[in-house]
Amino acid sequence: MDKVLVLDFGGQYNQLIARRVRAEHVFAEIKPFNKISAADIKASYKGIIFTGGPSSVYDEKSPHIDREVLELGIPVLGICYGHQLMAYTLGGKVVSGDEHSEYGKTKLYAEESPLFKNVPKESVCWMSHRDIVDVLPEGFKIVASTDKCPAAAVCDEKRRLYGVQFHPEVTHTEFGTEILRNFIFDICGCSADWLMDDFIEASVERYKKELAGKKVLLALSGGVDSSVAAVLLHNAIGKNLYCVFVDHGLLRKDEGDYIEHTLGGKLGVNVIRVNAKDRFLGRLKGVTEPETKRHIIGEEFIRVFEDEAGKLGKIDLLAQGTIYPDVIESGKGDSAVIKSHHNVGGLPSNMKFSGIVEPLRDLFKDEVREVGLRLGIPVELVGRQPFPGPGLAIRVIGEITEERLELLREADAIYRYEIDRSEIRSALAQYFAVLMDTRSVGVMGDSRTYGYTVALRAVTTDDFMTADYAKIPYEILEAASTRITNEIKGITRVVYDITSKPPATVEWE
Ligand code: XMP
Repeated sequence: MDKVLVLDFGGQYNQLIARRVRAEHVFAEIKPFNKISAADIKASYKGIIFTGGPSSVYDEKSPHIDREVLELGIPVLGICYGHQLMAYTLGGKVVSGDEHSEYGKTKLYAEESPLFKNVPKESVCWMSHRDIVDVLPEGFKIVASTDKCPAAAVCDEKRRLYGVQFHPEVTHTEFGTEILRNFIFDICGCSADWLMDDFIEASVERYKKELAGKKVLLALSGGVDSSVAAVLLHNAIGKNLYCVFVDHGLLRKDEGDYIEHTLGGKLGVNVIRVNAKDRFLGRLKGVTEPETKRHIIGEEFIRVFEDEAGKLGKIDLLAQGTIYPDVIESGKGDSAVIKSHHNVGGLPSNMKFSGIVEPLRDLFKDEVREVGLRLGIPVELVGRQPFPGPGLAIRVIGEITEERLELLREADAIYRYEIDRSEIRSALAQYFAVLMDTRSVGVMGDSRTYGYTVALRAVTTDDFMTADYAKIPYEILEAASTRITNEIKGITRVVYDITSKPPATVEWE
C-alpha cells in the first residue's frame, strides 16, 4: 500500500491534511517532525507533506529538519510554515512582518504547473501567515501568487519539491482537493488503494490467526469506537470476544437497551451487560462537585469491570477502541488539563493481560464510522454524537438523584427528537440538555408552579478543542421548550446556552 507522510510542525490542520489525503484513498500517517529519520522515510513513503506551524523559521526554537529529507528524491509538498521551512533549508530567504500578512480568503493567480492541473488561473485560497518566502532557493520558480504574496506557490519540478503558502487542506481553498490530488497521484504516483472493505477483510483475517484460541475482553461503552471495535473483532473470533458493558445508570433514555439489543441481538456480539446503577448512585449520593463526580465514576467503573471480568476466568488479551487521533503524537507542546477527561474506561491496572488489541488504531473517526456501516452497524449508532464517559452525572448540575436523572432523560429525549427531525441536525456536532440545580416559579392554568430549569446546548465544531454555539432556529427551540414544560412535571423553565468554547466548555461540568 502506498503511503504519504504528513510531517507535523505543530500546525492546527495536521490531522485535516491526513484526512484529506485518506479521503482520496491514499494512506497518510502523521509523525512529529523530529521523530522519524530520513532513512525511515525513504523506506516507507511515496510522498511527504510538511504541515504548517505557529513558528517563524528564524525563531530560536522553531522546528527544523535535515536537508537530507529534501534530498531523498521523494516528492515534498510544504504547506505554510512547511513551505517557508523548505525554502529556508535549501538556501532561500524568508521575511517577516505585518505588511506581508494575509488572513482568510485570498485571490490566487496560478500558472501552468503539475500542481495546478485542473485549477483555473484565478481562484480563491485560504491564507493565514505573517512570514513569506522572499528569495527562492536555486532551481525553484514561482507558480502562483496573490496580491501580497509573490511566492504563494513555488516548485522545483525536477526535484519534485513543491511549496504553497496557503492551505489547500481547508475547504475555503476552492481547488484545494485538486491540488492535493495532483500532488499525491500525479507527482508522487500513489495508487488509491486505501479502501475500508480491504481494511476489514485484512483485519478479520489477521485477528482470526493472531487471536485463535484466545479469550479477549473489551470494555463496551456503546460509543462509536468501542462498538465498531467489538463488531470487527466479533467477526474474527466470535464468542471468544467478551464485551463487558457497564451500565452505570447515567445513560440517556433507552440507551442501555438500545446498545445491548443492537450489538448483542442483531449483530450477535457477545455482550455482557452489567446493571450497576445502584452501585454508582450509591457512591454519588450527596456529591455535587464536578471533579469529585468524575473521579468517583472512574473509580467505580474500574471496580465493577474488575468484578465482572473476574467471573470470566482467565482472559488473554484486552481489546480497546483506540483510534488514530488518540495515538498521534503532536509536534506541539503539552496543553493544560481543563477537566479530568476523558474516558471512564480507565481500566484496572492490576489486571494482567498478555497484550492489547487495538483494531482501529490507524483510523480516523470518519473511517471508523465507514467501517461500522460496512459491518452492518445501524447508522443511528455509527452516527452518534459523542457522549461523555461520566454520562448524565455531569449534566445534572448539583446532586444526582434518580428523580433528577429521570427529569433530564425526558427533557433530553424531547430536545434530541426535535433536533433529529430537523435539517439542522447534520450541522451539529453535539446537542443535549442539562438540568440546573436552581428552581424557578412558573404558572400553569391558574396555579403557581415551582420547578427546575433545563438548559439546552448545541455546538458546532471540528475537533471539540474549540466549539461555537449553534444558531438553532427559534421554532425548534420553541417546540422543544413547549413540549418539555408541558410534558414533564417538575420542569418550569427552558433556556438556551449561547456560550462558545472558549470561554465555556461543551459540557457544563
Ligand atoms: P468539554 O466539556 O471539555 O468537552 O468541552 C469536549 C468533548 O469531550 C466530551 N467529554 C467527555 N468525554 N469523558 C468522555 O469520554 C469525559 O469525562 C468527558 N468530558 C467531556 C464532551 O461531551 C465533548 O464532546
